[in-house]
Amino acid sequence: MEPLRAVKGMNDLLPAEAGRFQAVEAAMRRAFGLAGYGEVRTPVVEEAALFSRSIGEETDVVGKEMYVFPDRHGKSLALRPEGTAGAVRAYVEHGVGGQDPLVRWWYAGPMFRHERPQKGRYRQFHQLGAELFGAAAPEADAELVGLVHELLQRLGLRDVVLQLNSIGDDACRPVYTRSLQEYLRAHAAELCEDCRRRTEKNPLRTLDCKVPGCRAVLAGAPSVQASLCEACRGHFEAVCGHLSALGVPFETNDRLVRGLDYYTRTTFEFLAKGELGSQNTVAAGGRYDKLVEQLGGGAVPAVGFAAGIERLVLALGPPADAAPGPELFVVPLGEPAKRAALGIAQAARRTGLATEIDVRGGSVKSQLRRADRAGAAFVVVLGDQELASGRVKLKQMGTRGKGRPGDEAEVALSELSSSVRAALG
Ligand code: HAM
Repeated sequence: MEPLRAVKGMNDLLPAEAGRFQAVEAAMRRAFGLAGYGEVRTPVVEEAALFSRSIGEETDVVGKEMYVFPDRHGKSLALRPEGTAGAVRAYVEHGVGGQDPLVRWWYAGPMFRHERPQKGRYRQFHQLGAELFGAAAPEADAELVGLVHELLQRLGLRDVVLQLNSIGDDACRPVYTRSLQEYLRAHAAELCEDCRRRTEKNPLRTLDCKVPGCRAVLAGAPSVQASLCEACRGHFEAVCGHLSALGVPFETNDRLVRGLDYYTRTTFEFLAKGELGSQNTVAAGGRYDKLVEQLGGGAVPAVGFAAGIERLVLALGPPADAAPGPELFVVPLGEPAKRAALGIAQAARRTGLATEIDVRGGSVKSQLRRADRAGAAFVVVLGDQELASGRVKLKQMGTRGKGRPGDEAEVALSELSSSVRAALG
């Protein structure tokens, strides 16, 4: 029988890799926690309508990539392709804005998009993100973008470019959309079928098209920045001013409309150089002042971002050093010692010492070999004599410790943990 394999584009995270994900999440918790962001966890499955109503029917994410399936009652459900829609649904459902006019949330978890898998692009991937509800002011955009910058710095990701744009609001975007539509209609013959449809239904989406012919046409399309109204222009200039004052370098890109329909005004992306090739957007987001209302809440402005954890980990490159092995390795000899060893190891762990045993048993030699492979700092061999006398020999294995590899010291079994700690220095 063929062995079963993981679903294409969905990856296992073995402990070393999972550890790197945890480190990224810990940096997020720290950077955003310090700024008042609390963690929110929403379901992985939502009603499909949540995503079509927020991200937009005409987007690739909803139209081509979403995993949609009927449940046993025929209700149409979807695996979440991103975190913002669920966060907004939860914000509205729990009346959060009524309790606090300014709400800051962060999240991390798996997302699902049926894209063509390649390096940095998967069908199950992990995002961490944040959403700030209740502030329309440019200070909110600047705080959020500044925190993403801070997060990337904390992670040690220095070779990153921030691109920034404004795509206007209800007052000025329709003007831009019309001029874009006119331009697209004039070039209809050169566009792909999708873009001809988008020209009529949602012209802005043509700007995300990857088809080379369309990209060539769009290179000459009108600029969204040129049609911003005074209020949107002022907002954008203020965001830029704050970022400069914060020392966050950026460039403006008037083609940056992003692939999701809910954005208004600010959009941004952080691009990493090197490693990632075409999938080099490590973090992205923007303002969405209409989405809360659209999903049945009040008129609550909001701004947020999400980063792909796989992409951050790839961009960071391999870790400088491997995870350290156990601080103590207990090697029992004979049945009484085996029985005692489990309890001795447990007691050492209770004091916070990383402690392992080779639960397969075996000869002293093979257990010591295991201790060595595990990278143990100290070993203690436990036989009948040690159990009777209550004294054991503590041996330093490698260079972790105050002594030299091979150094031995006799210590009381009852003071094993404190002796290891003292010997570790
Ligand atoms: P997004 O640009 O669709 O935005 O995704 C954000 C990030 O998720 C991307 O920049 C990328 O790093 C990562 N990502 C997306 N798709 C994949 C994939 N197939 N494989 C690996 N990584 C991927 C959003 O999702 C918005 N919810 C961001 C946001 C939050 N806007 C406002 N608030």
